[in-house]
Formats: sequence, C-alpha cells, structure tokens
Amino acid sequence: MGTDKDTRNDSYTAPAKDHSYLIRQCTFEDIERVKEVNEKELPEDYPFFFYKSILDNFPESFLVAHTKDDPNNIIGYIMWRIEKTPSKNSLRLLNKAHLVSIAVSKDHRKKGIASALLSKSMPMIGKRNVSEYVLEVRVSNYHAINLYEKFEYKKEGIKKRYYKDGENAYFMVCPAD
Ligand code: ACO
Ligand code: ZN
Repeated sequence: MGTDKDTRNDSYTAPAKDHSYLIRQCTFEDIERVKEVNEKELPEDYPFFFYKSILDNFPESFLVAHTKDDPNNIIGYIMWRIEKTPSKNSLRLLNKAHLVSIAVSKDHRKKGIASALLSKSMPMIGKRNVSEYVLEVRVSNYHAINLYEKFEYKKEGIKKRYYKDGENAYFMVCPAD
C-alpha cells in the first residue's frame, strides 16, 4: 500500500522487474559463451557447428541476454529453427517454428530474462510465415512449463523417452495468429 507521498514521488521506480540486463542478437563471437551457459544449465549439449548453423540460418531469433555492464557476459540465450512439415489436409508444406533451446544462468533467474527472450524472439522467427510455435520440455521441468504456459503454449502430447536418460517430454504448441 502506497501513501500519497509515495505516489507523488517522481523518483520512485517499481521494484518488480529488473533491468540490469540487455538483450541483443547473438554473434559468432558469443557462441562459446552461449555454449558454456547451455552446458551449465541443461543436460542437452550441442557441438559448436550446431550453434553456428542456427546462427547462419536463423540469426534474427537467436538472442542473448548480457549484463548491462559487460556485453560479453552472456547470462541467457534463446534459439529457434524452422521445420517444414506437410499440412494435414494438403500437400502444402507448413513452417513450424521450433524452440531449440532457452536457458538463463542460475544467478540471474526470476528477473524476467527468459520472458524477455521469448517475447522478443517469437515475433522475429514468426516473420517466416509460421503456422505454429512448438517445443519439447521435460515433464519434470515445471519452471519452464510455467513459463511456456504464460506465453499460451498448450501441452499437445507426450513424447515417450524423448531424452537420453529416458525422461518423457511434453510436446507444447502455440498457434501463430
Ligand atoms: N518457480 C516457479 N516458476 C518459475 C520459476 C521458479 N523458480 N522461474 C520461472 N518460472 C516461471 C514463472 O511462470 C515465471 O513467470 P512470473 O515471473 O510471471 O511468475 C516465468 O517462468 C518467467 O520467469 P522468468 O524470470 O522470465 O524466467 P527465468 O529467466 O528465470 O528463466 C528458465 C526460466 C529459462 C526456465 C530457467 O529456469 C532456466 O534456464 N532453466 C534451466 C534451463 C531450462 O530448463 N530451459 C528450458 C528447457 S526446454 C527448451 O529449451 C525447449
Ligand atoms: Zn522453484
């Protein structure tokens, strides 16, 4: 509850969201650091050339978050790719935007960084005439599932033993409008 004095004070800033980070497109030079964040935060690791090929093909939606004081201090990333799939009722190929991977360093979580990465990258990959956005997520990863549900992704099914360790994945979908 704010007093009259609080609401009239121009210098008051809402404490809810942290803006100690910035978001920009990934560059070739960032890949090593992105790879490090991925290896620390997720059991699914990728070789350098995989990041390079995502960057070559879908640069507009490969975003990184860095601390405000150091543009090379990467604390989060998101990357997407397009997959072409036949539509259900014609031979036409549909573009699906597939969320390949998102992660935020542990020390910087719960500041809205993943939300910012998602909300900035979806319209970018969305320009490629996509019919829907899709992703897989571990059934136990409720933080990520919460995040995706906030962005109106719905669980469409389960992929059994999707991960190397045998865990199932939810297949989640968000229609493009
Ligand atoms: N507890 C509960 N809900 C959480 C938590 C938490 N600790 N962290 C995030 N969420 C959910 C909430 O719904 C939150 O919304 P709210 O703040 O309005 O309540 C929402 O996520 C967004 O929170 P952000 O601060 O934007 O998310 P954050 O920057 O902390 O990153 C992420 C979330 C990416 C899931 C992070 O926890 C992470 O890096 N985890 C490890 C890597 C990972 O699991 N990545 C996803 C794998 S699936 C894939 O890549 C396709
Ligand atoms: Zn928790």
